[in-house]
Amino acid sequence: MHKKISIDIKLALRQLQNGELVAFPTETVYGLGADARNEMAIRKVFTAKGRPVDHPLIVHLANAQQMAEWAQGIPKAAFILAQHFWPGPLTMILHKQPAVSNLITGGQDTIALRVPNHPITLELLQRFGSGLVGPSANKYGFVSPTTAEHVATDLGDTVAAILDGGACTVGIESTIVNLLSDRVTIMRQGAITAAQLSQALQYDVAINTPDTNVRVSGSHASHYAPHTPAYVLPIEQLLQKALQFSAQHAKFSVISLQAKPAIMDANVLWQQVSANPAIYAHDLYSNLRMHDELHNAAILIEQVPNIDAWAAVADRLQRAGAKD
Ligand code: TXA
Ligand code: MG
Repeated sequence: MHKKISIDIKLALRQLQNGELVAFPTETVYGLGADARNEMAIRKVFTAKGRPVDHPLIVHLANAQQMAEWAQGIPKAAFILAQHFWPGPLTMILHKQPAVSNLITGGQDTIALRVPNHPITLELLQRFGSGLVGPSANKYGFVSPTTAEHVATDLGDTVAAILDGGACTVGIESTIVNLLSDRVTIMRQGAITAAQLSQALQYDVAINTPDTNVRVSGSHASHYAPHTPAYVLPIEQLLQKALQFSAQHAKFSVISLQAKPAIMDANVLWQQVSANPAIYAHDLYSNLRMHDELHNAAILIEQVPNIDAWAAVADRLQRAGAKD
């Protein structure tokens, strides 16, 4: 195990107070934590990730009461959503308090807030008493980490510590909602669905492609992508492509909801994955990283069903397969 992986919350706390970076577990993916009131510490986050500084960060809080320290003009909907979904995989975009650093917000006057649902990180946040910025703890554009080992692979040299909370239970990033206008809209899909949000708010919550006023770096097409070329295809096209790779004697991977057909040859690492969207999401980034490490010619991924329950997974697959 990597020497910086530990469960020492006290040590992590001291390191954060000293302006160092500490990766923390959440239910979605691991975050790269730094003191959100310390600009030197926040700068280190951008450097470690290789992330452009105009891409804003989420501030993680211990509870909903702390919202008012970071946001102003908080609408009623925010309290309703906090009541229903925090701690949990929901991030809210609100108007920021003037004192919040522009480094966090990419110079915008808005702030992203979330109370994550992981016992270790909730204890860390409670003891810290303030906010922690926490982008996913991966290199910019790459697949998010869902284990402490993933973080060590990507950022082991730059973090002071990696708090080990086991494998993330959800496995894909939080749902991001925009609360800047009258009606709440979804800016990034996640485990909390439009239907759940609509039920909590008693009106239909729409899924909105980001406009130019509100930037979501995770919405760039080539985000969440492995280094190996990934192709997301319906099963018939996937089989055709697989036969082409086989004919070229290229080694390749397949992630499919089906069992390996008998006609497939030995060059393929065919992984049959769960047809349950929550289990699929839980394993997705580990699976992508595993196939990526084989340095094969390609990862062929079977398209998932085009229904609500699969929407967040479908979104991440599309980004993993984007070629820009
Ligand atoms: O599940 C998650 O949200 C994880 C865990 C660690 O909490 N965090 C995460 O952070 O995914 P990151 O930085 O990888 O993605 C956060 C997204 C980015 O796409 C960013 O652009 C967007 O949130 N964001 C942050 N502040 C924003 C703001 N003020 N307005 C619009 N988008 C914002
Ligand atoms: Mg990210």
